[in-house]
Amino acid sequence: MIERILPSVTVAHHAFDDAVDAELFPQEAAVVAAAAAVRQREFATVRRCARESLAALGIPPMPLLPGERGAPLWPRGTVGSMTHCLGYRAAAAARTDEITALGIDAEPHQPLPEGVLEMISLPGERAHLSSLGADRHWDRLLFSAKESVYKTWFPLTRRRLDFRAVSVGFQPADRTFTAEFLVPGPRIGEDEVRGFHGRWLVDQGIALTAIALLPARPHLRQVAR
Ligand SMILES: CC(C)(COP(=O)(O)OP(=O)(O)OC[C@H]1O[C@@H](n2cnc3c(N)ncnc32)[C@H](O)[C@@H]1OP(=O)(O)O)[C@@H](O)C(=O)NCCC(=O)NCCS
Repeated sequence: MIERILPSVTVAHHAFDDAVDAELFPQEAAVVAAAAAVRQREFATVRRCARESLAALGIPPMPLLPGERGAPLWPRGTVGSMTHCLGYRAAAAARTDEITALGIDAEPHQPLPEGVLEMISLPGERAHLSSLGADRHWDRLLFSAKESVYKTWFPLTRRRLDFRAVSVGFQPADRTFTAEFLVPGPRIGEDEVRGFHGRWLVDQGIALTAIALLPARPHLRQVAR
């Protein structure tokens, strides 16, 4: 499902549950040894998805451990992203010569809990969501888009990003979105990235967003300000 909103150079695998036993490397098992069983299972399933994706890129199975602030450490020469929510787990990976940074997120396609939208959005975003129609839970898609932004942003910057430091706008016609940074963006070579382009999808009760930053694509560095 997530592969529908990712470029073809990206490999993605998903699962709708934790039914298939997924083995962990001892170092990975140690990370979740004290966690609840449900967390251990999602952690294992999403790593199975990630190893399947990496295998398609020719990367043999290896531990995928959390690094700084939980960002997973991907094998040299690859980038990737993982997500899990009730009813869906997914991982995507690509070679760094094809994709510079990657972020994916899945959420149940349900309204956000009371009060959350106000915490994660700007007044202008809320006005924008109101104009989009009632056929989608745009508040949840906004949250997911910002999680995808953060997963793409963090490995590039090693910086936190406040929910209200990014302004997201959706284009329903082609199921894309733009995320404009209101703080200094990541630097890639000589360029400052001012925002990301992403894609979104709602399918089988799951809201999905994805961002894949392509190398040497100047328009991605010039998102409308
Ligand atoms: C880290 C965070 C983005 C995870 O998102 P989530 O919707 O809670 O959970 P998901 O299941 O979709 O994703 C979890 C996975 O994200 C990945 N992840 C965690 N921290 C990460 C980071 N700093 N950078 C990139 N990926 C990260 C991990 O692979 C994790 O799975 P794992 O623990 O099994 O390895 C979220 O918990 C968080 O801290 N958000 C606050 C910051 C933020 O989003 N700001 C928005 C700015 S616009």
